[in-house]
Amino acid sequence: LDQEYARAVLRELAKRRAIAEARVNPRDLIDRKFQQQAKFVEDMSQFVVAQCTRRAGKSHGLGLRLFRAGFRHPGEASIHIGLTRASVKAIMWPALTYINKLYRIGAELVESALEVRMPNGSVLRLVGADSKNFIERLRGPKYAEAQVDEAQSFRSHVESLIDDILTPACADLRASIVLAGTPGPIPSGTFFEASEKDAGYSKHKWSVYDNPHFPDPKGFVAKLKKKKKWADDNPTYLREWCGKWVKDLDALVYKFVKDRDCYDQLDQAHDYSRVLVIDYGFDDQTAFGITTYSRTLRQGFQEHAEGHSEMIPSEIAVKIQELREKYKPVKILADTGALGKMITEEFRRRYKIPIEPVEKKDKLTHVALLNGDLITGNFKIHQR
Ligand SMILES: Nc1ncnc2c1ncn2[C@@H]1O[C@H](COP(=O)(O)OP(=O)(O)OP(=O)(O)O)[C@@H](O)[C@H]1O
Ligand SMILES: [Mg+2]
Repeated sequence: LDQEYARAVLRELAKRRAIAEARVNPRDLIDRKFQQQAKFVEDMSQFVVAQCTRRAGKSHGLGLRLFRAGFRHPGEASIHIGLTRASVKAIMWPALTYINKLYRIGAELVESALEVRMPNGSVLRLVGADSKNFIERLRGPKYAEAQVDEAQSFRSHVESLIDDILTPACADLRASIVLAGTPGPIPSGTFFEASEKDAGYSKHKWSVYDNPHFPDPKGFVAKLKKKKKWADDNPTYLREWCGKWVKDLDALVYKFVKDRDCYDQLDQAHDYSRVLVIDYGFDDQTAFGITTYSRTLRQGFQEHAEGHSEMIPSEIAVKIQELREKYKPVKILADTGALGKMITEEFRRRYKIPIEPVEKKDKLTHVALLNGDLITGNFKIHQR
């Protein structure tokens, strides 16, 4: 026991020495040569938003903020939410590693847990919205800072994430809630309102051209533009490299031709399997679809589709039962991006409905795939 005690004392001493030696002044955790980012990093408002181009230095700025929050509130936790565990690992982890080294913070980086433990006892936690128990992992007692990166991709779910979970958890320490992202294809939603409207956010906007760490941004963007054959008004170019909100209708539109793509009745001589697909939304509609596939015909059919706004979970459950009885789907799938996961868990537990998650990773890819199937006649839609 004595030996163990001695070891504990030594460990504690080593830790204290690390703190003393580090002598990091949290105010130095900033890049003074990078004014736009520095202003964002120093902003202590309750709600902060950064709307930037790609490669502008948003994530790096969030990393600096995270460590500063850790210094400000010793022993407390801060949280960074990214789209997926993999993206957080690929983007934030290297940034935090770099900052930890550069400023000699002496934090311990525990990669398996995606957790940074600072010498003063603060913990910086990274979570992907796709991770298991995402919501449970967020329910901390209080936070010294809460961040959402790539906020444009969280759709309407980010609103309840902020209102119901992050805002109360950040109140004790008067911590900031920070959103960062690039304009998405639809100019609406929480991130759009935060960055463009008067929604109570302290707003920051800058671009890759302001980032002194990005080599030759003009040349880079010019090359990319040429390679992708983008005109000056190409929506992707305007969103990602000019940081502007534009409606990207073409990207969201299905190439549907009524005469070619509709069917009236299924041929009963064939076998069919059905899947019920649910896409949650509160302000926007919750949609239900029956997608049917015939192995013998090697064709897919959209047999049924309906959508309703402002549905609460119990109403959704009733609708699911109704469709289950009518179509006998072999599977029920739901989009569990971001907070959809929480609702799906509720169905599984409370209503005993066996929903399986699907990840809607890249909407544009799906649109392109379906367009391909429509053109080749592999997918038909029921004619109303
Ligand atoms: N203060 C800084 N010090 C050193 N390097 C930086 C700093 N800020 C940004 N960078 C570098 O600039 C590049 C882009 O930064 P970052 O990944 O933070 O941008 P982003 O806006 O999050 O980009 P994306 O849109 O791709 O997510 C990276 O190589 C990053 O390391
Ligand atoms: Mg980033």
